[in-house]
Amino acid sequence: MTDRYTVFGHPIEHSKSPRIHAAFAAQTAQDLIYTASLAPLNGFEAALAAFRAAGGRGANVTVPFKEEAYRLATQLSDRARQAGAVNTLTLRDSEMVGDNTDGVGLVRDLTLNLQYSLAGKRILVLGAGGATRGILGPLWAVPSADQPESLFIANRTATKALELARQFGCVGGGFDAIPGQPFDVVINATAASLAGEMPPLPNAVFAPGALAYDMMYGLQTPFLSFAQAQGARIADGLGMLVEQAAEAFWLWRGVRPETAPVLAALRAELARS
Ligand code: ATR
Repeated sequence: MTDRYTVFGHPIEHSKSPRIHAAFAAQTAQDLIYTASLAPLNGFEAALAAFRAAGGRGANVTVPFKEEAYRLATQLSDRARQAGAVNTLTLRDSEMVGDNTDGVGLVRDLTLNLQYSLAGKRILVLGAGGATRGILGPLWAVPSADQPESLFIANRTATKALELARQFGCVGGGFDAIPGQPFDVVINATAASLAGEMPPLPNAVFAPGALAYDMMYGLQTPFLSFAQAQGARIADGLGMLVEQAAEAFWLWRGVRPETAPVLAALRAELARS
């Protein structure tokens, strides 16, 4: 029988995950179906149970259900525990294994797709919500050969940045506390772009050759426009989306898909729309 996977969210109609996973499956000759499931805001647990009962093998979870998925999982990976949120569930027998592939997706996009090494770099992360929590482990707290020199979390509500910084062993504060020395990588993980706004950044925030990364995709956000005007290299979050999907695919199927052709196809499509 063909294995079934889905992504749960609310809203979900614009999700690119079904297309990404269909492309991975075709490329690796895996027999699976991947759909998008709209769960009612107070009905995620029931929707997940129904999907399991129907033989579902795994699910991605997106806004606003990642924290609930974390609570429902019967086992958690270290990176899910660090993130306090689950975006990938593997369903087997009575177990529901929760993982979080967002952070590793970002790091792969930065280091492999964008060829931007993080080793010895100064990183500034904007925002201290769920999006930031999801990336701090792989970006900073898990030692790697690519270990950055420093990471500062800046947030409108300074206390939230300080709390995350304490938890992950980095530094943080309000936007007015951003250190004067410029940064090599600035990652926008705030929801400001949704409102057409940008976090209040000092003009000299980008070091020469700096990369500005917005975790949103599909639009030139005020943050990216500002960064471009300041001479920074810019990138949106489309590559992170494809890479987090590839990691989930690997967890489920034990096969690593090629992400480059899938990312290129999505990019071309966005350019047309
Ligand atoms: P998510 O899970 O997507 O991170 P969230 O937990 O609601 O969503 O967090 C949204 C983040 O965007 C927060 O860091 C928020 O700042 P506050 O903690 O001060 O609320 C930030 N944010 C939202 N709108 C913003 C704006 N217009 N300017 C700057 N930061 C903004």
